[in-house]
Amino acid sequence: MRVAHTPAEIRSQLKPLRASKSIAFVPTMGCLHKGHLSLIKKAKAEADIVVVSIYVNPLQFGPNEDLDRYPRTFDQDARLCAEAGVDFLFHPATLYPKSGPKVTLKVEELCDCLCGASRPGHFDGVLTVVNILFNIVQPDIAVFGEKDWQQLAIIRRMVADLQMPIEIIGSQTIREADGLAKSSRNRYLSDNNRRQAIALSRALLAMQRLAATGESDIERLKQEANTILTTASVDTEYLDIRGATSLKSKRKLNKQPARVFIAAKVGNTRLIDNMPLELTS
Ligand code: PAJ
Repeated sequence: MRVAHTPAEIRSQLKPLRASKSIAFVPTMGCLHKGHLSLIKKAKAEADIVVVSIYVNPLQFGPNEDLDRYPRTFDQDARLCAEAGVDFLFHPATLYPKSGPKVTLKVEELCDCLCGASRPGHFDGVLTVVNILFNIVQPDIAVFGEKDWQQLAIIRRMVADLQMPIEIIGSQTIREADGLAKSSRNRYLSDNNRRQAIALSRALLAMQRLAATGESDIERLKQEANTILTTASVDTEYLDIRGATSLKSKRKLNKQPARVFIAAKVGNTRLIDNMPLELTS
């Protein structure tokens, strides 16, 4: 595995390979866990060469968010990448000019709901850095996790609207044995918080089960989840059922693909999760 620290370095490493090899890209902020490794596995199955980036992107953190304490574990991450068969690891010190980013990207509507409502500017920061990374790596394929479904939907829309020649592949959420979605932020949870955190996936599964019985009433479905969340004393930020691609609110569950999204504070840690919701009866 080769490690590059600047855009020029990774560009020159990849240049001789472009004509004959397909390139799959997995952007990350490091502190890699099995969720990230599953994306790398998928990338390896889809292309000849796998490039992973590790960059904690300041532009996607709000002023009171955890940029400074976001875990940085580069040596361990590099070892995991090498073991997973990553070909190139891109670890830049910064991706922005000294004067700060003056060009940013935004996807109307999709960026303002769900996590965008409570984290203003977050998705503009994500889109901007992903666009910069795409311009540097110029992959054929890029793999993103369904764990961050809104991010995935927004990136798909950016790639479609800007006619980027990149295939975006979504990869399923990897979970702990008890259902908690794996996340770099889970390490902030105390033992007690960790037990409370199971309520998120339990609440989503309970909604899935109820929808499978034919319940299409959004309020009743939400009530089912809220009971579980309240019992676990989880501080719910949003619990919302939306169209899987448009992210528009749904008034009733129907045959169109829908997803349920949740964000909640457990202790001081903000967690998110989502699952598909299917009306099967
Ligand atoms: P990060 O949180 O490090 O996540 C990198 C990728 O791993 C994302 O595509 C995310 O959806 C995926 N991922 C995280 N947890 C997962 C899990 N439990 N199962 C499956 N996939 C999982 O997302 C970001 O970084 C950044 O916003 C980034 C896209 C790199 C831009 O800075």
